[in-house]
Amino acid sequence: HHQLSGRDFLTLADYTTDEINYLLELASYLKKQHKSGKSEQPLKGKTLGMIFEKSSTRTRVSFEVGIYQLGGTGLFLSSDDIQIGRGEPISDTAKVLSSYLDGIMIRTYSQAVVEELAANASIPVINGLTDMYHPCQVLADMQTILEEKGTLKGVNVAYIGDGNNMAHSLMMGSAKMGMNISIAAPKGYQPDPAITERSRSFAQGNKIVVTEDPAEAAKNADVIYTDVWASMGQETEQEKRVKAFKEYQVNNELLGYAKKDVTFMHCLPAHRGEEVAADVIDGKHSVVFQQAENRLHAQKALMTALMG
Ligand code: CP
Ligand code: NVA
Repeated sequence: HHQLSGRDFLTLADYTTDEINYLLELASYLKKQHKSGKSEQPLKGKTLGMIFEKSSTRTRVSFEVGIYQLGGTGLFLSSDDIQIGRGEPISDTAKVLSSYLDGIMIRTYSQAVVEELAANASIPVINGLTDMYHPCQVLADMQTILEEKGTLKGVNVAYIGDGNNMAHSLMMGSAKMGMNISIAAPKGYQPDPAITERSRSFAQGNKIVVTEDPAEAAKNADVIYTDVWASMGQETEQEKRVKAFKEYQVNNELLGYAKKDVTFMHCLPAHRGEEVAADVIDGKHSVVFQQAENRLHAQKALMTALMG
């Protein structure tokens, strides 16, 4: 039996392999129910507040539609409009929102803000992306890899590009679920060494590798993953980053190092001609829209488990 009710979801590091497996099974079940028109409403009458300090297409729409399909309602709370934007303490906000809502999803810059919100809220807090982590994306990505490969254990994931929030959460998810992950990033843009070490502490024989060589990372890969070179908040570094990452594009040449049936993944939004060539993201190996769809199902599972 899994004790997920009332828990926060701030990073995959806080969840056991069993708990992640449970969420993935529930996500797959909810997807099937949804496709066959047999949806249940386990969160009837419940409300999710969604705080956004950064832009979003997928996260906003999938959470709002997800809570609605589960029988509840979502509230979009732009940080420009709520008092957080004018300096009201996170801790006061957490206490007030806890008296109205049944759950909070937050997308912001600092992981510490999400942790402070969670520490002061009496309701579940879900991390909808920080500069450090993007765990909801990786939950949906693991659902997608399961659909494509039938298993997570022993799957070889290559992540090519910036050692950012996506790289961190993919490392954490891979470590927990027995996937081998090889991250290729240039010097100065590699994942946070503390997070790499923490991920390794959860691995059970599976490899967590960081390299500068994209071809080495892509060798024998089942999955090649990439993300933007300049994340939200790094817009002024765009030019410098395009230079630093020019050898790190995922294109057909790089796919040539991977297994024949390699799956291409990207959390979106993507920049064709930068981190990925158009013919790769729009080609037969790409599952990017399946990943985006699975955000809905994976987060419905998450909300059902935490807010139910
Ligand atoms: N992948 C993802 O989180 O997309 P959005 O920024 O559109 O939410
Ligand atoms: N690394 C990207 C992911 C967007 C979903 C960003 O933080 O902007």
